[in-house]
Amino acid sequence: MLEHGAAPPAGGGNPRPPVTGGLGTRLMRRKPVERLVAESGRGEGGSLRRSMGVWQLTMISIGATLGTGIFVVLGEAVPKAGPAVILSFVLAGITALFSALSYAELAGTIPVSGSSYSYAYATLGELIAWICGWCLILEYGVSVAAVAVGWGQYLNELLAGTVGFTIPEALSAPPGNGGVFNLPALLVVMLAMVFLLGGAKESARANTIMVTVKIIALLLFCGVALQGVRSGNYADFMPMGMAGVSAAGATLFFSYIGFDAASTAGEEAKNPQRDLPRAIMLSLVLVTLLYCLVAAVAVGALPWHRFAGSEAALAGILKTVTGQNVWAVLLAFGAVVAIASVVLTVLYGQTRILFAMSRDGLVPKVFSRVHPRTGAPRANTVIVSLFCGVLAAAVPLGQLADATSIGTLFAFALVNVAVIVLRRTRPDMPRAFRTPLAPLFPAIGFLLCIYMMGNLGPVTWVVFGVWMAVGLVVYFGYGMRRSRLTTAEK
Ligand code: ALA
Repeated sequence: MLEHGAAPPAGGGNPRPPVTGGLGTRLMRRKPVERLVAESGRGEGGSLRRSMGVWQLTMISIGATLGTGIFVVLGEAVPKAGPAVILSFVLAGITALFSALSYAELAGTIPVSGSSYSYAYATLGELIAWICGWCLILEYGVSVAAVAVGWGQYLNELLAGTVGFTIPEALSAPPGNGGVFNLPALLVVMLAMVFLLGGAKESARANTIMVTVKIIALLLFCGVALQGVRSGNYADFMPMGMAGVSAAGATLFFSYIGFDAASTAGEEAKNPQRDLPRAIMLSLVLVTLLYCLVAAVAVGALPWHRFAGSEAALAGILKTVTGQNVWAVLLAFGAVVAIASVVLTVLYGQTRILFAMSRDGLVPKVFSRVHPRTGAPRANTVIVSLFCGVLAAAVPLGQLADATSIGTLFAFALVNVAVIVLRRTRPDMPRAFRTPLAPLFPAIGFLLCIYMMGNLGPVTWVVFGVWMAVGLVVYFGYGMRRSRLTTAEK
C-alpha cells in the first residue's frame, strides 16, 4: 500500500476529490497508515497541541473507566454471583485484556486521535471504519449522557447527607421517569465542556486531580470497611456456580469500558508510540486490581444476599460497618467526583474521534476546526456537549445505556480483526508494542467480544440495528460522497 503523493492539507483548501471506481471499491478504500500519521494533529485553521505524557494518558484512561460501574453496578452484580463476584471482575477484566492488547498494538502503530475508527480505516476499509466510528458514538457520546444521569442521583445523595436538601424530582429526572428536565445531568456535561474549551492540557490536569480523589475514595472504602470483614461471609463462595459468575461478569464488563480512552489522545501525546500502549495496559491493570480489592472487601463486610435492591451499595456498607453517616457522605463525594471525571474524559474522547472523522471528510468540517489560542476544537466541543447535555437532560436512558455496551463490544471486535489484518498487510511496520501470540490472542479477543454481545438482550439488539441503519443512511447520503480519500489511494 503506497502513498500517492504527499498528504493534502487538512484545511478547507482541500477540494472534494473526484469520485472514481465502482461502489465496492469506494466502500473498501483504505487510508494508508503513513497518511494517517502524516495528517496527525492537523485540523482546520490550526493544530492540536502535544502536551501529554504517559502519566496524563494513563489518567485519561482511568478517568474514563472508573465510575458508575464500581459505585453502582457492583451492587447489581453481587446477587448474581455471590462472593464470587471477585472472579466475575477477573473474568470481565480478562475479556477486556485481550482487546486492550490489540488497542495497545494499534495505538502504538497508528497513534492518531480516531482510535478504532482510524485503525479500521487503515485496515478494513472506509465503510467498516464508518460503522466503527458510528459505534464509537454509542461508546462515547451516548454513554456520556447515561453516566451524567447517574451523576445527578449521587449529587442528590450528597446534598441530602450534607445540607439536608435534594433537587426536586421535576428538575432531576427526565420526562417519563417522573420529572420534566434533568438539570444536574445537563450541568455536569456543561461543566466538562468548560474545561475542554480551555484546552487538553487544562482538562488533563483537572482529570488527574479527580482521578486521585476517586482512587482515594475507593481506598478509604477498603480501609474503613475492612473492619467489618468476616470470614463467614465468604463461606458460601459461589452460590450460583460458574453460570452466576459469567452472568455477573457480563454485567460488570461495563465497568471496564473506557480503558481505550487514551487512544483518542494520540495527537495530543508527546510520545504517542511509546506512551499510548503503556497507558492503556497500565490503566487496565490498576483498575482491575482496585476492582478486585473493593469487591473482596465489600462481599466480606456484608453478606452477599443483602446486596439485592441496594442502590448505593458501597455507601450502605460503610453505614452498616461504622454506624456513622459521615463515611457514606465522603464516599458519595468520591462518587460525584468519579462520575464527573468519566463525563470529562469520555466527552473529550468523543470530540477527538469526530475530529478525525471530520478531517477525513466523513462528517462536516466544523468538527476539525481548531481554536488558534487554546488548540482545542471549540465548535466541535460545543456541539458535542450540547448534544450529550440535551440527551442526558431529556431522555430516560435505560436502554440507550445498554446500547453503549453493544456499540463498544462491536468496536473492540473490529480492533482485534484490525490487528490481524495489519500484521498480514503491513508486517514491515515498526510496532512499539506487539500483542503476544498473534493472531491467537486477537482472535480470542474477537470471539470474547462477540460472545458478550450475544449475552445482551433483544431490545438492545433492536436499538443497535436501528442505530446502524441510521448510520448507513448518513454514510451513503453524506460521508461516502465527501470522503477526502480518492479511490486511487485505497
Ligand atoms: N466504565 C465506566 C463506568 O463504570 C463507563 O462508569
